[in-house]
Amino acid sequence: MKIVKKVDDVRKEVKKARKEGKTIGFVPTMGALHNGHLSLIKASISECAFTVVSIFVNPIQFNDPADYKKYPRDNERDINLLKKEDVDLLFIPETEEMYKERAETYVEVRGLSDVLEGKFRPGHFKGVCTVVCKLFNIVQPDKAYFGWKDAQQLIVIRKMVKDLNIPVEIVGCPTIRENDGLAASSRNVFIKEDDREKALSLYNSLKKIEDMVLKEGIKDTSILLEEGKSIIAKYTDVELQYLEIVDFENLSPVRKIESKVLVLGAIKLPYVRLIDNIIINV
Ligand code: PAJ
Repeated sequence: MKIVKKVDDVRKEVKKARKEGKTIGFVPTMGALHNGHLSLIKASISECAFTVVSIFVNPIQFNDPADYKKYPRDNERDINLLKKEDVDLLFIPETEEMYKERAETYVEVRGLSDVLEGKFRPGHFKGVCTVVCKLFNIVQPDKAYFGWKDAQQLIVIRKMVKDLNIPVEIVGCPTIRENDGLAASSRNVFIKEDDREKALSLYNSLKKIEDMVLKEGIKDTSILLEEGKSIIAKYTDVELQYLEIVDFENLSPVRKIESKVLVLGAIKLPYVRLIDNIIINV
């Protein structure tokens, strides 16, 4: 695995691989790698002859400076993990390499970015889209891999790629969970052992809604959400930021489930914010 820090070196390496006729797969990450990231990397390796991974904690997608500051970073551990996989190129730039001068250009996907996560993290998707667009221009991959764990992010990026005619195929990969069902996340390292049950309340609520739809045939989303919310409400120090059932394509709220929907939520423990979602296909 070649490790580079400069944009020009990425271009050089990718150009070489392309000359050899290789398909370029790309997995953008913010590091603190876990099994969720590794599943994306494995998917790229299995489908593409040349896999590029990036690790960059992107300052402009954090609406809360404290969250940016405490975001877990462990490059040495990440590099050792990646060496065990068949990754061809790791791009691990310094902030100055990505934002050399004051940026005046941003990429914003309106509408889809303003709901759900967007309401609680203003400017977040603008920061995500801008950095992903930059990374796409640097790497110029044929395929890029994103997790359904961040369903809204995946949908927003698909829209950006379509609207801007970016020549890349976006591949969505299923959410990887820990043994007890908690969605793997870089932020899970913050969860105290005693708070595990609280952290799991969101997933339990999503599972309950799924059971009610698939086993009991309940389609009315107000009934489903009321039941889902009651599971989280049992924990007084867990703040439910949102729990919504929305259309799979356009993220608009659904009153009665008649096609593929996303059930998404965000909770806040006093010291960590967690998101999760499930897809229900009726
Ligand atoms: P990060 O949170 O590091 O996630 C990188 C990729 O891993 C994203 O596509 C995310 O959806 C995926 N991922 C995270 N947890 C997962 C899980 N449990 N199962 C499957 N996939 C999972 O998302 C970002 O970084 C950034 O916003 C980024 C796209 C890199 C732009 O800065």
